[in-house]
Amino acid sequence: MKLLFSQPAARGNDAWLAALRAALAAAMPGVQLDEWRPGLPPDYDAAIVWAPSQQLVDEQPQLKALLNLGAGVDKLLALRLPPTMALVRLEDAGMAVQMAEYVCHALIRFFREFAAYDRQQHEQRWHPRRPHVRSEFPVGVMGLGALGQRVAQAVQQFDFPVLGWSRTPHDLPGVQCFHGDGGLPDFLKGTRVLVCLLPLTPATRGILNRQTLEQLQLASYVINVARGGLLVEDDLQQLLDEGHLAGATLDVMQDEPLPPGHWLWTHPHVTVTPHISAQTVRSEAVVQVVRSLQALQRGETPSGQVQRDRGY
Ligand SMILES: NC(=O)c1ccc[n+]([C@@H]2O[C@H](COP(=O)([O-])OP(=O)(O)OC[C@H]3O[C@@H](n4cnc5c(N)ncnc54)[C@H](OP(=O)(O)O)[C@@H]3O)[C@@H](O)[C@H]2O)c1
Repeated sequence: MKLLFSQPAARGNDAWLAALRAALAAAMPGVQLDEWRPGLPPDYDAAIVWAPSQQLVDEQPQLKALLNLGAGVDKLLALRLPPTMALVRLEDAGMAVQMAEYVCHALIRFFREFAAYDRQQHEQRWHPRRPHVRSEFPVGVMGLGALGQRVAQAVQQFDFPVLGWSRTPHDLPGVQCFHGDGGLPDFLKGTRVLVCLLPLTPATRGILNRQTLEQLQLASYVINVARGGLLVEDDLQQLLDEGHLAGATLDVMQDEPLPPGHWLWTHPHVTVTPHISAQTVRSEAVVQVVRSLQALQRGETPSGQVQRDRGY
């Protein structure tokens, strides 16, 4: 088996290549791994990638699979790909626990009003605030996949009521589950803190917009940790300024990096972070990539294989 590696925008490629080569030598001796550069002969079997160029795909149309070093495949699906090329993504691989801690932090910061206490400390003002009632802060998780399920589980540990929404029906302990277009209005109506962990697909692009966000309970909070394209930022701004939404924590934006001067940087009720809620953990990603390659070599479908027609 001959493999390519390409991660043009990232640093640390030498460390990735060393870790992948060591794991492949142990688990799949004889496999060759080369870093992609333009003009290589089209005789490779698969490529391990993050945000590869269209040129790689155009020059290597025979590749049987692209193994993505992340959970989201929206960037891969934006490329022109031969119909037979399989896409395999990371499933959890150390990202779910990071997502759970990020979301719980944002949720608790909002629920316990830590932003207000930060301001009070700055003013040297001792002022205990009246505690909120937990049952009035149901948390709705959009997307009940590898990451959403872990987040729903983590939030339950703090006794918040939890709702979930997915494309197909799910039955998760302690989670009131909704699905499909028909289930969306009741899910939104029941939610006070909305957590978005949907993939970005043609069906979900712009799904967080005025029409949907208006259905959330009054003074709701939005946490988007999936993709910026899911949220219509202008609609968020209007609903924040009208007071229907109390605030938002956003790890992902329509434009990344977020341009200097963008309103999201300075809005008093918005917290932004630079797409760090769940980062790829090299050691866990390498194990999963090798497992997927072994499945491909045996002619099996790796467990993280993306259904290209549904977009995730
Ligand atoms: N910010 C970051 O650092 C970061 C890091 C990693 C991942 N992410 C993002 O997180 C996303 C989720 O990751 P994951 O591994 O949990 O994905 P996943 O396992 O594929 O789960 C996706 C979930 O979304 C649901 N879904 C998809 N399309 C839907 C639709 N049209 N309507 C309703 N529900 C829909 C799926 O429903 P079914 O269960 O019915 O299929 C599934 O529950 C990724 O796609 C990526 O964009 C962000």
